[in-house]
Amino acid sequence: MKTSHNNRPVLEAVDLTKRYEDGVLALDHVNFAIPAGELFAMLGGNGAGKTTTVNLFLNLLEPTEGEARVNGVAAHLEPLKAKSQMAFVSENVMLYPNFTAIQNLDFFAKLSGHDEYGTRYYRDVLLRVGLAEESHNKRLKGFSKGMRQKCGIAIAILKNAPAILLDEPTAGLDPKAGHDFIQLLDSLRREGKAILMSTHDIFRAREVADTIAIMDCGRIIMQKRAAELQGQDLVQIYMRYMAGRTESSPIAAPVES
Ligand SMILES: Nc1ncnc2c1ncn2[C@@H]1O[C@H](COP(=O)(O)OP(=O)(O)OP(=O)(O)O)[C@@H](O)[C@H]1O
Ligand SMILES: [Mg+2]
Repeated sequence: MKTSHNNRPVLEAVDLTKRYEDGVLALDHVNFAIPAGELFAMLGGNGAGKTTTVNLFLNLLEPTEGEARVNGVAAHLEPLKAKSQMAFVSENVMLYPNFTAIQNLDFFAKLSGHDEYGTRYYRDVLLRVGLAEESHNKRLKGFSKGMRQKCGIAIAILKNAPAILLDEPTAGLDPKAGHDFIQLLDSLRREGKAILMSTHDIFRAREVADTIAIMDCGRIIMQKRAAELQGQDLVQIYMRYMAGRTESSPIAAPVES
């Protein structure tokens, strides 16, 4: 039950459109809204537009049209204000290989304006995300993908932002690590975070998502609440949508001169 949260969107895509410089229309008027306490999962084949969507929220890209909003703030218009309200979890971006787990947490917590935390709290958060105590003082460069992913989510927890974005967070994790990671996302969702996640893992999406969208060629071709999918085979639904698609590649158009 998530009755304590209002339904005002924390993350919102409004006619979000991206045409890359080479003419590829990667996103075509995409609309969705994610309120506090909900997880929105984007499924879709390679090149569907999932990473482009995430990157527009992070202001790593400029939209051609429309807006990616965080608590009403358009990411490309007020990037700093928008970024302060988002945590992006990635195993590669940002972590320092020569720093230990604790040092990485301390560095990034301070970077996001949290000077109040100490080692004890860092240890608690690392334990919460499932990183064993003996690894807390080891350098990141010796960590496996799953261990780095845990540090990434620990940093997101420390930032305590209302929105969390993840691009294929469970890719390459072993089954137990993938399961634990999804449980962690579930607990963050219950704490009231709005979560946007892209994934190729239909089963995990189904496990944790409040809303599931299927993207294809830059458009959302299906969007359903988890309750609507109850008792239905999501794999079959996905395959049906993919079989019925009209285009096999994104719409490339010549760049107007
Ligand atoms: N920097 C870029 N310049 C030009 N085209 C790009 C660029 N990045 C992505 N694209 C194109 O935009 C479309 C959407 O790509 P995107 O990376 O968003 O897909 P995706 O859904 O994340 O795919 P995947 O599942 O493979 O990660 C693809 O056709 C891709 O080739
Ligand atoms: Mg991608």
